This record gives sequence, structure tokens and C-alpha cells, in this order.
Amino acid sequence: MAVEAVKLDAPAGVEIRGVDLAQPMNDDTFAIIERAFDTHGVAVFRDQQITPEQQVAFCARFGDVEINHNGAKFGLKGNPEIYLISNIVKDGRPIGTPRAGPRWHSDMCYAKRPARATMLFAVEVPELHGLPLGDTAFANAAAAWDALPSGMQRRVEGLRAVFDFQGRKRGRPISAETIAQYPPVEHPMVRRHPNTGRKSLYVMRDDCTGVTGMDAGEARTLIDALADHIIRPEFVYRHRWRKGDLVVWDNCTVQHRAVIDYDLPQRRLMWRTTVKGDVPQ
Ligand code: SIN
Repeated sequence: MAVEAVKLDAPAGVEIRGVDLAQPMNDDTFAIIERAFDTHGVAVFRDQQITPEQQVAFCARFGDVEINHNGAKFGLKGNPEIYLISNIVKDGRPIGTPRAGPRWHSDMCYAKRPARATMLFAVEVPELHGLPLGDTAFANAAAAWDALPSGMQRRVEGLRAVFDFQGRKRGRPISAETIAQYPPVEHPMVRRHPNTGRKSLYVMRDDCTGVTGMDAGEARTLIDALADHIIRPEFVYRHRWRKGDLVVWDNCTVQHRAVIDYDLPQRRLMWRTTVKGDVPQ
């Protein structure tokens, strides 16, 4: 079956058809997938049956696979690259992070080299009366940049924001070691995609705590205005999960948030892997 990239009828995303991720993949097929991923920001593969090793192998096609800073606790045994996002409790202990990313963000934006890509494989999807819960929403920050009035584009281009690991509230205690690993860092508020050259807004309400050279009050107003603009409904694709979905997203082009509208006994289990990225330009 020939590989096919079918743009979703949504502000972001493409479905890749005709690919079995459990099988070895040739370079031509991966080139089609990577082009579609770079262009549309979110790539969706349906009906996959893969092992942890197969997910890690596919993830590695995009670059160096990272180990999560909380991996010692919630990494999959024998496959530390796979981080568990889950509300499942086994023997009285959570098997993964239960409430990962409920607010809009871009993965590892607080790092010098934020993640290029994040991949989730849906192992268990919660549901109510047969309707899936626990969607993931994606906001297209490149489309949001394109839609900014030109006066605002001129005002923002060239500015740099401060990204602070401690800006975001997290549902778990963070060690002093992790905090020391991620001191505040500056990134451009308008990023250029390393492969396509397309510009995206790179601003988040929680993670951005200031704008270099700008008074704190003015910076807060600007950050909030841009962050709210990016997540307007016309830029958002909401992925409704099915068991066996593998979704990979580009942390330069899109921001995302987890919709936490379920609770036990509704179970959710995702295998998550991330790929190291470049210094944002
Ligand atoms: C994340 O923010 O990486 C988690 C997204 C999700 O679980 O839907």
C-alpha cells in the first residue's frame, strides 16, 4: 500500500495512511512523513500495533530521543525513552504522570534546546458511553503568526522572551536538581522553522515570564495577548484519540494541551517519547 499524506480538515494536522509502524521503513517513506510533519505540525497514524522498541525506533528517525527528567520514576521498565502518561494506579502507586500538560505549552520550551518533536501512542483511551475522553488540543502557532496584523508583526519580530521552568504550575513536586538543570532562558518570540523556514509565534502564558528589555507590566500584557491569540478556535485542532493512534507533533509549529475530562475507573495510558531539537532561531 502506498504511503499517503492527507491533510486534516482542521487548522493543523495531517493523517499519514498506508504505513505500518511495526515494519522497517525506507528513507523515501520517511521523507514523505517528515515533509508532511514539517508542513502541518501534527501527524496522525491510525490503527497501529507497535512495541515500545518500535516506537523508539520510529521516534529516532526524527532525531536524538531524549530521556525525560522524571524518567527514573515514570519511564517504562526496560525502555527508559518511553515515558508513561497515565492515571492508572497499580499496587497503590501511579504508573505515570496522571495530569500531564493541562495548560497550553510547547514541550521543553524552558530548555536551551527545546524538543523538536513529541510522540504519543495511545495504549488505553478513556471513554464514557462509548465516547472517547482525554483529547489533546493543538494550536497552530504558524497560522497565528500569519494572521497577526502587520503592525503587530513588526512590533513582535526580533523580541526575545524569558522562558522559566518555574513559570508553570506542575501537579507534582519538582526536585532542586531539575530546577537547577533549567535556569531561565531566552528564546525569540517569533521562531523560524528549521526545515521549512516558516515563522511561528513562540509565546506561552505560563512559561514566558518576561520580555528582554521590556518593563514587566508591558511584557505581561504582550505575552498574554499573543498567547491568547495563538489558541483562538480558528487555529486549534482537537485530536480525539482511538486506541492504536500514534500522533507526533512539531513543538515549533504547534502548542498543545491535554484535556483532562476523565477520571478512574476511566483509564488513560499513553507512551510518550520526545526528540531533541535545535536552539530556536
Ligand atoms: C503532554 O503535554 O505532553 C501530554 C498531552 C496529553 O497527554 O494529551
